[in-house]
Amino acid sequence: MSLLSSQAMSLRKAPPITDTEFRKLREFIYKLTGIDVPERRKYLFETRLGARLKTLQLSSFGEYITYLTSSPHRKQELDLLFEKITTNETSFFRDIKQLGVFKTFALRKILDDQARKGTKELRIWCAGCSSGEEPYTLAIMLHELLKMSIISWKIRIFANDLSPAMVARAKRGVYNAYALRNTPKQIQTKYFIPESRGFKVHPKVQKLVQFQVLNLNDSVAVKRIQQSHIVFCRNVIIYFDDAMKRKVINHFYNNLLPEGYLIIGHSESLHRYARFFIPQTKPGGIMYQKAK
Ligand SMILES: C[S@@+](CC[C@H](N)C(=O)[O-])C[C@H]1O[C@@H](n2cnc3c(N)ncnc32)[C@H](O)[C@@H]1O
Repeated sequence: MSLLSSQAMSLRKAPPITDTEFRKLREFIYKLTGIDVPERRKYLFETRLGARLKTLQLSSFGEYITYLTSSPHRKQELDLLFEKITTNETSFFRDIKQLGVFKTFALRKILDDQARKGTKELRIWCAGCSSGEEPYTLAIMLHELLKMSIISWKIRIFANDLSPAMVARAKRGVYNAYALRNTPKQIQTKYFIPESRGFKVHPKVQKLVQFQVLNLNDSVAVKRIQQSHIVFCRNVIIYFDDAMKRKVINHFYNNLLPEGYLIIGHSESLHRYARFFIPQTKPGGIMYQKAK
C-alpha cells in the first residue's frame, strides 16, 4: 500500500456495522465467552472497535470477522476484542454494605467452623475479578479478621478474568487514588505502599491471591479449579444471557463445598437459576448457601 493510500485510510472514519455483520460478530463473541451483546448496544461495536479496524486498515466489520477467525494474529486480536467489549468497572471495597453482610454472616462463620474442625484452610474463588481490586479487598478483610493468627491459616484466593490485560494489571497490584476511593483511610495506610506510579498492594496481601486468565465459558478449565468455601462473582453474570447464566451458576454450585457461599452483585439475582441454593437475605445483601 502506498503512503498516500495508507494516510487516506487513517483519516477515514471507521465503517458502520451492518445488521448482518452485527449478528455474526455477536454470535462469535457469544459462542466464545457467553457474553450477550443486545441489539440495542450495537453502537458499542462501532464505538469500541472502530479505531481497531482503522489500525488494522480493514474497510468493514466483515473483514474484521475474517481477521478474527483466520489471521495468524487471531489469538492476540481476540484478547484485544474481549478487553474492548467487556466492562471492567471495579474498585477496592466496592459495595461496602454488601461486604459487611458477607463478613458478618458468611466469612466469620466459615472461619469459625474451619477453626473448630481444626482445618485452618480457606479457599475463595473470585470469578471475573477484573484488575484485581475485589480479590485484594477479600485478602485485606481476612487480614483484618484474623490479625496475627493469619500465619497459621492456609488461605488461597483464586482470582481470574477473561481479559489477559486485566489479569496482568491485577498481578502488578499498583493502583491510582480513584481505585481506592471507597477504601477507609486506615486500611490504605496499613495495606498499601505509596510509590511513584500510585499505591502498591502490600506483599502480605498479594501473597494470598493467585491470578489466572480464565474464561467462565470454558467448562474444562473451570472443572480444574479446586473446590472452594466461597465463590465471589459480582457484576459479571449481568452480561450473560439465560443459558450462560445457568451454565455458570452450575459451575459455581459444583465448585462449592457443602455449606459454601455464593456471592453475586447486589443488583443481580439468582432466583430463576438456583434451585439448589438457600438464599439468606440480610439487610444490605443476599448470600446464597449451598445445602449440606
Ligand atoms: C464489571 S467487571 C466486575 C469486576 C468485579 N467482580 C467487581 O464487581 O468489581 C466484569 C468482569 O467480568 C469479566 N468477564 C466477562 N465475561 C467473562 C467470562 N466469560 N469469563 C471470565 N470473566 C469474564 C470481564 O472481563 C470483567 O473484568
